[in-house]
Amino acid sequence: MAIINFGSINIDHVYRVARMPAPGETLTVKSYDRFLGGKGANQSIAIAKSGGLVRHVGAIGPDGGWAAEKLQEAGVDPGHLTVVDEPTGHAVILVDDAGENQIVICAGANRCLTIDQIAAELDTANAEDKWVLLQNETNCTSDIVRCAKAAGFRVAYSAAPFVAEETLPLVDSVDLLIVNDVEAKALAVAGGSSMSDMACAELLITRGEHGAEFHHSGSIFKQAAFGVTPVDTTGAGDTFLGAFLARYSQGGDAGEALQFAAAASAIQVTRPGAADAIPDEGEVMNFLSERKS
Ligand code: RIB
Repeated sequence: MAIINFGSINIDHVYRVARMPAPGETLTVKSYDRFLGGKGANQSIAIAKSGGLVRHVGAIGPDGGWAAEKLQEAGVDPGHLTVVDEPTGHAVILVDDAGENQIVICAGANRCLTIDQIAAELDTANAEDKWVLLQNETNCTSDIVRCAKAAGFRVAYSAAPFVAEETLPLVDSVDLLIVNDVEAKALAVAGGSSMSDMACAELLITRGEHGAEFHHSGSIFKQAAFGVTPVDTTGAGDTFLGAFLARYSQGGDAGEALQFAAAASAIQVTRPGAADAIPDEGEVMNFLSERKS
């Protein structure tokens, strides 16, 4: 059973700084690296590395062959990417000595999905492909949700980056909404209600070092974060979501899926980069058994 991810792909330009610059201040960076990123690509790789099957539907520019190869190396089927006449999306990321980040993105090719492409991908999906995943880094988000629901898929929506006017109309239609702390607060303010009043069937809130919670059928499952020393927290939430969905969508127990996801993101933040830092299933299982012993 594959998860169909209508997902963004970015080239991440990562600049290490001792601290974040103040407004109007110029800083010299300590280092520069280029990594694969994008919330969609990170989530697809986390699904694949956690033992899930994923079909990544997206768009890259003529400069994006490298990103497609990186996806394939990580176990993601890249055969559903279109190459368009826009540069591949990119992100400019500052990471400070505490591993915290600030990110700006330039959507580029990520905004080139078409309704025909979405419909064709859903039409050719397997009867067992029950889940569709999306984020706010592509265009056509409302079309993806509408078509996926009409075709009988369960829809998981990572409402990041949070854009009130895009997210609010979708919240009631999706089956699983995923937000971090900041997005949860912004959503509650924009929607004028508390998160627990949201009509989506399931809600996953990731809170970084403060763990995560999963709301399902009136119950709340809480998961603490594992204590680690972070090097780079970029993509930690994407890793958590992908790892959780890989396990949960295969009929896994929510508690086990949360614990697995917490371990995956704990390992991921101890390494530089977003997609490159995501651990595989074996590493996560080893980490969990070490932490239990
Ligand atoms: O969530 C982390 C991701 O956000 C980065 O990889 C960057 O590309 C932005 O999309």
